[in-house]
Amino acid sequence: MEKYDVLVVGGGPAGYPAAIRAAQNGAKVAIIERDKFGGECTNYGCIPTKALLKGAKVAEELNRYPFVKGGVSIDFKELMRWVGRVSSRSSRGVEYLLKGYGVEIYRGEARFKDVKTVKVGDKELHGDKVILALGSRPIDIPGFPVDGERIHNNRTILGIDEKPGSIAIIGAGYIGVEYATVFSSLGSEVFLIELLERVLPLMDKDFSRLMDKILRRRGVKIYTGVKAEKPEIGGDGVSIRLSNGDVINVDIVLVAVGRRPNSEGLDGLGVRLDEKGFVIVDDMMMTNVDGVYAAGDLAGQPMLAHKAFLEGVIAGENASGGEIYKVSKFIPSVVYTEPELVSVGYTLEAALDNGIKAEEKLYPIGGVAKAYIEGMTEGFVKMVVDGEGSIYGIHIAAPNASELAGEATYLLETRSTVEDVALTVHPHPTISEALKEAAEYIIGRPYHYLLK
Ligand code: NAI
Repeated sequence: MEKYDVLVVGGGPAGYPAAIRAAQNGAKVAIIERDKFGGECTNYGCIPTKALLKGAKVAEELNRYPFVKGGVSIDFKELMRWVGRVSSRSSRGVEYLLKGYGVEIYRGEARFKDVKTVKVGDKELHGDKVILALGSRPIDIPGFPVDGERIHNNRTILGIDEKPGSIAIIGAGYIGVEYATVFSSLGSEVFLIELLERVLPLMDKDFSRLMDKILRRRGVKIYTGVKAEKPEIGGDGVSIRLSNGDVINVDIVLVAVGRRPNSEGLDGLGVRLDEKGFVIVDDMMMTNVDGVYAAGDLAGQPMLAHKAFLEGVIAGENASGGEIYKVSKFIPSVVYTEPELVSVGYTLEAALDNGIKAEEKLYPIGGVAKAYIEGMTEGFVKMVVDGEGSIYGIHIAAPNASELAGEATYLLETRSTVEDVALTVHPHPTISEALKEAAEYIIGRPYHYLLK
């Protein structure tokens, strides 16, 4: 049996930072991964989808300008090959880092003998401390068996090498709207089907409104408040009956109705789970079992890579003799549509529900010169503020808004006021000016916006 100070199970965005942090603290560390290092994010989520979005947007962006002549088109096979290369480069980068920090790597399925003893192939490993970073997987819906041919999930869709003529996307959450953006940019006919009353139903209502309008304008057929019934899979496509009586015929289907944690069997090892199957952890990321930690998607919502990084580092630190806590943190959400969406902190509804006397102020992105240069003037910066100028939430819809998510989060973390933002020089011309302009607008003295 091989013995380690810290044994990390899972090599995704929670597991690999955990292993690296523990190794930095001088612990003898091993990590087990059954697939590729970097996990869902690097190989099937964040990285390839953002590469795909970039690729799909390139031609569309160029064709938007009147001085581009002749039209630019995309070679889909080459695009998918490039997406694959971007992912494998990131995955190799993770492995390089792990090795560089002296973490021992084991490949294969981890089979638990007990919560601190794991078999991988014919090897048996024991961790004095164990970090569970097993991640999550897509939820299936009854009647839509993912076969990787006609019915896809976020993993299998990356294996297609021919652009679909038409696609039905079930679920208009993050994955749904991002893929609706990809395939409408590429010229596929897109149907987007959402059970709830609006696209991005869990986000700010103005995001839903904007995205609904923009996706429809791109030709996406949106069905909200509608359920997809059992499909009929034929030789050359899929026929789906919707709960409103419509029938749609498409080449392929993408199911994107959420994810669930890979926590099966953990309760049998004595690790306590909540009613949704997430591992329950304390603010040091420790489970109910002494010396056993959990981090990332396995340890609860939101299932985002940057939240997993944060938790991985906390678990890694605490498993290797440190003592740090996960205090209340602002976790930004970013949706890489066109324009991109960023949300951090409270929506107005959430602020009011929490007893804050807040209001929301919306500044249109069209007031910012760089938006014209980017060729995208639809969008806004919305701040949820109180009468004292305290900021409780920032919601941005703008070209390259993802690059402002860090600043928006920093403003909330540092409890900056509207005045602080207004007094901070933002370079011109940049999209970041929208934050300052919005602050000046809230104070009542904008100079790139006419108050009526
Ligand atoms: P999601 O939870 O964001 O959205 C799923 C949507 O499907 C919801 O709007 C839900 O109402 C709808 N739905 C559920 N059952 C349905 C049914 N039977 N018919 C029609 N609609 C139905 O989940 P999604 O998009 O699958 O993404 C999973 C997770 O992955 C996200 O919660 C997020 O944590 C992560 N992710 C993050 C991204 C980012 O940060 N940009 C991008 C993609 C995924």
